[in-house]
Amino acid sequence: MAAWVPHVGSYRRRMPVSLARMYENALDWEHLPWLHQSSFSDIECIDAGDWGWRAKATLANTNPSQLPAKSLWHKALGKSLRHQPWQLLKFSSRLIAQSLAAKRGGKEVLLELRLDRERKRWITTTLAGVGAGTEIWTHVIEHDAEDIEVVVDFFVPNIPQPMAAPLGRYYQNLYHRLYDEDQEMMETRQQALDKVKSPQKKDSTTVSLGDIEELKAKLPITVSLAGRDWQLREHQNHIAVHATLCPHMLGPLDQGHTSAEGTVRCPWHGYEFSLATGENLSGQRCKLPKPPETKIENGQVTLVI
Ligand code: FES
Ligand SMILES: [Fe+2]
Repeated sequence: MAAWVPHVGSYRRRMPVSLARMYENALDWEHLPWLHQSSFSDIECIDAGDWGWRAKATLANTNPSQLPAKSLWHKALGKSLRHQPWQLLKFSSRLIAQSLAAKRGGKEVLLELRLDRERKRWITTTLAGVGAGTEIWTHVIEHDAEDIEVVVDFFVPNIPQPMAAPLGRYYQNLYHRLYDEDQEMMETRQQALDKVKSPQKKDSTTVSLGDIEELKAKLPITVSLAGRDWQLREHQNHIAVHATLCPHMLGPLDQGHTSAEGTVRCPWHGYEFSLATGENLSGQRCKLPKPPETKIENGQVTLVI
């Protein structure tokens, strides 16, 4: 850090994931507005690599319940007013300028994450926008192959000392929620990777699903065929079939949102695929595998691959 920046709080968490999954998650700028929708609404990458990433992110409308409790702020403000009036004045004018900028639609922040594998840590810095100069240092302690602990320290510049504790608690709550979401993603991805790597039976190439009306009443369902899981959903009175795993990073496409236009969107990075052709409509190269054919004869449904 170039200048001294006050430490406002820390957050620790033990998680049943590997260091590889954790680094992958830290480097994955693209998931922010999809997995963490309550914090980010958009992101545009400027540069990314093995070193980390730099991106323009748009902050989501902050839910007032996520901010430090009003009474805590009032208490801190009162103390600050008594002991550090000039510092408080500086801090308040910065807050006013930031909220005016936010009102004008300036909720953009320039973020940078730098990964230091040797020290098992990464530093996320707000380079510009709301909270410019804030640094979040994350160190990882590896207890076992799939047992890590993250220690996150929050440094916020120009903060009057009495305001530090409420802001620290705000960051702790925020990071608790972000890591709840990240942990679920990392664990789900690890399970999917393990499943893809383990040999699967590929013998059956057809499966009978019974009466069409009874089947429609049960949808959505997952069916295994030819070594893969397929999601069957009703789409505009037809049965749409697609792989349950996203071809990007094995996200849970079965939990994706389908549109009236016949697309399914992955909840992890928002890639959108055509249900009819499997094509990636978000512009990336990966596409869905060809689904099994749905055959209907005398009201009886069969999937054939
Ligand atoms: S896993 Fe990234 S878009 Fe699906
Ligand atoms: Fe995340």
